[in-house]
Amino acid sequence: MAAVRRCATMLVLCALTFEFVVMGAEVIDGSATKDRTLNGRRRQVATEPNGARRRRPSAGLKPGLDKSLVNETLGPSAVERNGKFLSLFTIVQFQNQGCAASSGDNGTCVTSAECSDRGGVASGPCANGYGVCCVFLATCGQNTKENCTYFVNQGYPGPYDGTGSCQLTINKAHPDICQFRLDFDQFSIAGPESIDHICNNDQFIVAGGNPTSAICGINTGNHMYIDAGVGNTNPVTLNFVTSGLSFPRNWKIKICQIPCNTIYRAEEGCLQYFTGVSGQIKSYNYDPAFGLQLSKQDYSICIRKERNFCGIQYAACPDTVNNRTHAFTLSGNTRGQTAVSSNTGTIGPNSCNEDWLIIPCATNVGRTELLACVDRICGGTLNTEISTTAATVFSTVKPFRLTVHTNNIEAPSDAGNRGFCLNYVQQPCSNNYEV
Ligand SMILES: *[C@@H]1O[C@H](CO)[C@@H](O)[C@H](O)[C@H]1NC(C)=O
Ligand SMILES: *[C@@H]1O[C@H](CO)[C@@H](O)[C@H](O)[C@H]1NC(C)=O
Ligand SMILES: *[C@@H]1O[C@H](CO)[C@@H](O)[C@H](O)[C@H]1NC(C)=O
Ligand SMILES: *[C@@H]1O[C@H](CO)[C@@H](O)[C@H](O)[C@H]1NC(C)=O
Repeated sequence: MAAVRRCATMLVLCALTFEFVVMGAEVIDGSATKDRTLNGRRRQVATEPNGARRRRPSAGLKPGLDKSLVNETLGPSAVERNGKFLSLFTIVQFQNQGCAASSGDNGTCVTSAECSDRGGVASGPCANGYGVCCVFLATCGQNTKENCTYFVNQGYPGPYDGTGSCQLTINKAHPDICQFRLDFDQFSIAGPESIDHICNNDQFIVAGGNPTSAICGINTGNHMYIDAGVGNTNPVTLNFVTSGLSFPRNWKIKICQIPCNTIYRAEEGCLQYFTGVSGQIKSYNYDPAFGLQLSKQDYSICIRKERNFCGIQYAACPDTVNNRTHAFTLSGNTRGQTAVSSNTGTIGPNSCNEDWLIIPCATNVGRTELLACVDRICGGTLNTEISTTAATVFSTVKPFRLTVHTNNIEAPSDAGNRGFCLNYVQQPCSNNYEV
């Protein structure tokens, strides 16, 4: 008998499980049963290390079992169902939490049977070997509701060099999902055309969430937050449209579902969200050597104000490929290696009326005299005054937020602009940075 043979290696469990099978036939259920708790995590109970048999986590389970891994022997009175008492047996229970797959990806810890039922790929053990770290990969034409699904190109891990449309539909894992975080682990599609920097050939389009502009080019390492909407089901589609010249396209986007009531949920209306006292922010398709600033963008970048920090400083990233930094080149002809001045504000000849970055009420660090702060900055140098020398700028406006705007025209007055890469550092509350 299979149950007996399978138990042979675990003598105690063997007898007990066997008894369980006989006495509690209606309790054991070969189908994948899940108990969805409010925060969306699922609990599973396996009577064997390989998870072949599962028990509905219902009758008699002690509330205290809600730990990530519980190895507990229940007394004779602990489990009761339909008036029958089951004798002593061992329960292994674990939550379906995120796990580090041996592939290096982020997976979900489930039983091996459930992993294959749900179309995942087992990649290493988790929960002390009672579960497998299940990785979910999806590609064109598919639907997913699995947390942290990887959306990959056709032919992944090889490149895709073809034209067409590759769409993935994301559904909420449960109604209490407010956002999807997209991590561009790999994102390499054709860049914008070189006159007006519009994504004419390849595009990455998100539909069904908050309206976002199409992006293109190289965005590996960057990220994006998508509003999941209020409905119980509110599918969001990710679409790669590829056309034009031959290009070795590669993408691998990790899509994690963010429950509404969590501290890591992004602030409302932010396409990008950064946490931590310091970090680096890049506009889409930024690259100091080849990247072209994308036209037709309009979005906000938010930085979580960390506890006891009151202000924030921004400086252009080091640029190791150009003689003069191109880490802040938003408007003007910045193609050459000579400095192009910053522009500021909304009025006057040197104002920012086409492409700009808003840093609310920004001033240069180190200014002792009281100057009016500016909101809009553009040109070829990061500075809150008109200058060809880069400055570190700061703002104390809360929440910490940048707004990016680019119109749909570059040539002839704008040329060579790469966008921006900024290092930010939050500043502790003090006299200079009032609450
Ligand atoms: C369960 O408990 C037993 C006895 O304390 C121990 O030998 C075993 O390693 C535990 N299993 C897990 C998965 O922690
Ligand atoms: C999805 O996974 C992430 C990362 O492990 C986690 O923070 C988030 O809570 C998970 N979402 C759900 C719905 O389980
Ligand atoms: C994803 O996996 C990486 C590498 O294993 C790990 O550092 C990171 O914390 C994981 N992310 C989440 C959200 O679990
Ligand atoms: C930097 O300047 C040197 C000397 O003028 C020049 O040879 C080189 O091409 C310049 N680098 C770039 C990226 O333009």
